[in-house]
Amino acid sequence: MKTILSGITPSGKLHLGNYFGAIRQHIQMQEKGDAFYFIANYHSLTSINDGEQIRSNTYDIALDYLALGLDPEKCTFFLQSDVPQVVELTWILGTFTPVSKMEKGVAYKEKVDKGLSPNIGLFTYPILQAADILIYNSDLVPVGADQKQNLEICRDIAGTINHQYGEEVLKQPEPHIVESVAVVPGIDGQKMSKSYGNTINIFDEGKTLKKKVMSIETDSTPLDEPKDPESCNVFALIKLFADEEKKKEIAENYRAGGYGYGHAKKELLGMIEDYFAEARERRKKLAENMAYVHEVLAEGGRKARKRAEDVMKPLRRLTGIEQTFNVVDDIPSDEFTGA
Ligand code: ADP
Ligand code: TRP
Repeated sequence: MKTILSGITPSGKLHLGNYFGAIRQHIQMQEKGDAFYFIANYHSLTSINDGEQIRSNTYDIALDYLALGLDPEKCTFFLQSDVPQVVELTWILGTFTPVSKMEKGVAYKEKVDKGLSPNIGLFTYPILQAADILIYNSDLVPVGADQKQNLEICRDIAGTINHQYGEEVLKQPEPHIVESVAVVPGIDGQKMSKSYGNTINIFDEGKTLKKKVMSIETDSTPLDEPKDPESCNVFALIKLFADEEKKKEIAENYRAGGYGYGHAKKELLGMIEDYFAEARERRKKLAENMAYVHEVLAEGGRKARKRAEDVMKPLRRLTGIEQTFNVVDDIPSDEFTGA
């Protein structure tokens, strides 16, 4: 059975772009192998230095994923920080990674180009990500196209280490780039992204949701005139939710004239509400039972720590790094607040 792995950075509320570009595929893929999904809280520390914010984003994402259909019976769902060996592996990988390779990192270069001074965490972000992947002997890594470079770095580092020790101690994973979905536009027509402040969040509801949908930018074609659905942001979002028949019907309405953007927006609003209705209910119930969420993550963490040793033991042996204790004989933490 193939090991599938992906990480989600808790850097803000999840939006429709995240859902159609990543989360939906994560949830579908839990049926297709031994899936490991984790909340990449160490990664979020490269951009957020507010403990309360990272903590609350972490719980939000845990609730979101479980509400959207991630099933802890089918996959291992856990916190990156519950597998301390990942940080240990990051160090080892770093000693095999040329600085020049990291200097080509897209996220790092972007910061430098803006005249900002990136921290070492951002500089080595791809090495931490490589450790996340390699530590579970992952076969497939479903991610968005923006992660291609990080996956190449991961494969390269694994190749270097295997070559050095003459043994395939680290499995080189295959990227599974999710390209089937077009870029989801935000309410201003640019790519939906939390950094552009143009998102419709998956769990927005009531007035907030309505306000966002109603403020999607459109052109000023008058109501009675024909309109082109393919150049309309509202229609681009409708396409994500509607079945073929509904899409055809709405496109015909656009082209016929007498159908305004306001009509299309109302239709979209109803679709978003219906599509996530069950998940919304499930999320509310889950939020009242954080002890359950805690247990899911704790159990996921136990499994992941144990699995990590399958890679770390031979690697420690090969690299000559001795330890006098067994990491997996763990005791529960009383630090986890669950709030
Ligand atoms: P953001 O741009 O809001 O910071 P992230 O970079 O955290 O989002 O995105 C996590 C994943 O969600 C990405 O790797 C990508 O697969 C997907 N994603 C994000 N925004 C979009 C979008 N507008 N359209 C399609 N997929 C997206
Ligand atoms: N960098 C990824 C993102 O921004 C998140 C991530 C961290 C990840 N570790 C990973 C994704 C390991 C896949 C595998 O979306």
